[in-house]
Amino acid sequence: MTLLAEVKSYQRSVDEFRQVFGSDPDIVAFAPGRVNLIGEHTDYNEGFVLPIAVDIFLCVAARKRNDKRVKVFAADLNDWDEFSLDEIVRDENANWRNYHRGVAWVIQQNGIELEGIDAVVASDIPIGAGLSSSAAIEVGFALTFLHFVGANVPRPTLAQWCQLAEHKFAGVQCGIMDQMIALLGKENHALLLDCRDLSHQLVPLPKGIAFIVADTGVPRSLAASEYNVRRRQCEEAVQWLSKLLERPIKSLRDVTFEELSQVFNNIPDPIRRRARHVVTENNRVWAFQQAMRESALKRAGALLLASHASLRDDYEVSCRELDAMVKALMSVKGVFGARLTGAGFGGACLAMVREDAVERVLEEVPSKYKEALGDGSPEPKLFAVRPSDGATVLLFKG
Ligand code: GLA
Repeated sequence: MTLLAEVKSYQRSVDEFRQVFGSDPDIVAFAPGRVNLIGEHTDYNEGFVLPIAVDIFLCVAARKRNDKRVKVFAADLNDWDEFSLDEIVRDENANWRNYHRGVAWVIQQNGIELEGIDAVVASDIPIGAGLSSSAAIEVGFALTFLHFVGANVPRPTLAQWCQLAEHKFAGVQCGIMDQMIALLGKENHALLLDCRDLSHQLVPLPKGIAFIVADTGVPRSLAASEYNVRRRQCEEAVQWLSKLLERPIKSLRDVTFEELSQVFNNIPDPIRRRARHVVTENNRVWAFQQAMRESALKRAGALLLASHASLRDDYEVSCRELDAMVKALMSVKGVFGARLTGAGFGGACLAMVREDAVERVLEEVPSKYKEALGDGSPEPKLFAVRPSDGATVLLFKG
C-alpha cells in the first residue's frame, strides 16, 4: 500500500483546495498512472493487453456544491474551468478541460443526474510520457462525480464511459485499456484483459523483479493524429482479410498467424505489417503472462524485446530515441527485457529488471542514452514503479 504521505499530488490537491476554496475538501479521489507490460495497439483491435496500475497518482480533492455548477482548479497548470452541468460543451482552446467535462456529460447521458462540485486536481503523472495521465483524470473525476450522488456503477461500465468521454470530448479514438487498468489495477498484479468482452483476470507478478519507466524526454506530440491513422489502417487490414480469407472478420483479433501468413503477400504494404504486429502481439501477451506465472524471467524478457521490434518494424510507432533507450537499458546487467510502452512516437520505455539491479540501471542508463544520441539529446528521466491498486475515493479526515 502506498502511504498517503508519499503521494505528492495528494498533499498538493488538499493544500490548493484550502487556498482556493477556503475549506477542507470532503473527499480526495486517487487515480493511478499505468504502464502496459505487453499488448500494445491491440486493445482497439479487440485483442489482449497486460497492463499494471502504478504508484504515481493524480488526485482530485473535492466538495459538493448545492447547485449545478462545476468549478475546477488545475493546480499544475494554474488554470480554472467553470461550467454548468445543464450545458456541457467541449472547450476548443484548453483541452485539459475536456476530460472532466466529457466524463460529466457521459454520466448524465446514462441517466445519472449529477450535482455541482468544487474541485482541485493535481497530478504526479508526467504528461506525454505514455503513462496515461488522460485516463487518470477521467477516472478520478468519474469517481468524484459519482460519489456525491451516491451512484454505484460497475467499474468495467465506468471504464467504457470514460473511454467515450475521451472519444467525444478529447478527440482521441483510444482503446479501453487505460481506463480499465486505472479502475481495476491491483497491487503486485498485472491485469490480463480481453478487450472484446472486457473479461479479465489478475496475473500475480513474480518476486524479485522490478519495473522501470525510462522516459525518453521526447513528448508524444504526434500521438493523436498518427494514433488515429493506425486505427484506420487496422480497419483496412480487416477488410482485406475478410476478402482474402473469404469469411467475415470483425477485427484483427479473429485472425491467426497461420491465416495471415497464407495471404500476407496479397495485402498491400504497410497494411499487412500493421496486421502482423497485432496478430503476433496478441500471441506475445499470452506467452508473457504464462512466463510471469512460471517466473520464467528470461523468456518474458525476450518477449518484451520481440514486442519492441514488432512495434518498431511492423507498426512503425517507435523513434530513434525509444530505440536508443531500449539499447541503453539492455546493456546493463540485470535487465531482462525492455520495450516502448504506450502509444509510442516518443514517450517512455518499460524495462523489467532484477530487483537488485534497479540502482545500477537508474545510474548508468541516462549517460549511455545521451552518449548514443549525441549533441542535443533530450534529457531522459528514469524511475522505478510498483504495481498498485486502481482508483479509489477517500473521505477526507484532515
Ligand atoms: C494509448 C491508448 C490505449 C492503447 C495504447 C497503445 O495509450 O490510450 O488505448 O491503444 O495507446 O497500446
